[in-house]
Amino acid sequence: MIAEFPKISLARFGKINPESIEDFFSSGGFESVKKAVSMSQSELLELVEKSGLKGRGGAGFPTGMKQRFTSSSCQTCENRYVVCNADEGEPGTYKDRFIMESDPFLLIEGMILAALAINANYAYVYLRGEYFRSIELIKNAIKQSYEKGFLGQNILNSGKNLEMDIYLGAGSYLCGEELTLLESLEGKRGYPRIKPPFPAEKGLWGFPTLVNNVETFSHLPWIINNGFEEYAKIGTAESKGTKVFCVSGNVNKTGVYEVPMGITLRELVFDLAGGMKDGFVFKGALLGGAAGTFADETILDLPLAYETLKKEGLTLGSGAVIIIDDKTDLKSMMTSILSFFKHESCGKCVPCRVGTALLYDEIKKPNFSSKNLDFMLTEAEYMAKNSLCPLGQSPVLPIKSYVKYFKK
Ligand SMILES: Cc1cc2nc3c(=O)[nH]c(=O)nc-3n(C[C@H](O)[C@H](O)[C@H](O)COP(=O)(O)O)c2cc1C
Ligand code: SF4
Repeated sequence: MIAEFPKISLARFGKINPESIEDFFSSGGFESVKKAVSMSQSELLELVEKSGLKGRGGAGFPTGMKQRFTSSSCQTCENRYVVCNADEGEPGTYKDRFIMESDPFLLIEGMILAALAINANYAYVYLRGEYFRSIELIKNAIKQSYEKGFLGQNILNSGKNLEMDIYLGAGSYLCGEELTLLESLEGKRGYPRIKPPFPAEKGLWGFPTLVNNVETFSHLPWIINNGFEEYAKIGTAESKGTKVFCVSGNVNKTGVYEVPMGITLRELVFDLAGGMKDGFVFKGALLGGAAGTFADETILDLPLAYETLKKEGLTLGSGAVIIIDDKTDLKSMMTSILSFFKHESCGKCVPCRVGTALLYDEIKKPNFSSKNLDFMLTEAEYMAKNSLCPLGQSPVLPIKSYVKYFKK
């Protein structure tokens, strides 16, 4: 049994009208902003740092540390930006959409808190262009937040200003990568930039920029309202708070589940998702989407947390949990992943442009055997070392874990 825990990102799921700021107010919405406008920047930064919150977009970078870097870099810069990464392009991932569709004001609230912490006057939501309902709701939430004085000039008479707008992504997976996203936001073609400098130092139009995922922002109001000690009580030693997992595959109840970090795959699949559908036997999972890792049934009792998965060479990634059963054609699943990388490679650097095509061609070869798989692993390892951006460094993750857990 999963012990009682507070919901954070999906607390209002199905309970309020997501179009109504009044509903949001009556369920405690924006209370954290009222509190935060009278707090100092350093108090806000410290709260998030001490909470132990890590980014929910895939890399798990400590949010407080990122806020601190962004707030302290380039003291002479006249602008500082907050950008929400709502591009959600990772296959098997649909949690940000659920957060935005059930509680759009929560995202605005979280972004305001981040802007107050780093002293930013401008914020953008970079939103996946196919998410029509999310777009509608976020636009409405921004409009109503302006009307009620939570956005714009002199927020709640605090003397602080924040302008917010929305920008639509055009369906490129790579544009979810933070530096590519910033290029796209500047109106340029979605090519990645070389890191460093990181966005915290030199981001949008060359100014310090805080880029965080939707789910990450959605945790800030709870932390400000309840304190870092309460937040840090949820989860494991190194992975605090809750996480929204997206469960798909042949389970009885596919969907999004907000659970404490450290829940096991067994609890997620067999308690919450209602177990396997009749006629299907659990065989493993792909954790984190295409840029994620395969694992077999031996990890059923491993806590799903950054530190525990890392020890096993696995990733939590964006929270996608794609269940594999005894009838899943693993080769076809891998072919689909490699086809995805080939399609999404921007072609800027040779190791990835040629490598993604090569990997796809290799798996499509007739009489595919473990020898082809060995070649693919060597190629993917070469790509990981020599590609310009994280996209070309990603195919090694599913391939290596596939070899570890499923190579016959
Ligand atoms: C190819 C690629 C695609 C990505 N897509 C997304 C995405 O859709 N949403 C997201 O939040 N992060 C995505 N990321 C991760 C971002 O680069 C970045 O780490 C994240 O937005 C930071 O937010 P966080 O600290 O809150 O996790 C992607 C990374 C790569 C390499
Ligand atoms: S690694 Fe791939 S996606 Fe990244 S720059 Fe090179 S070609 Fe483009």
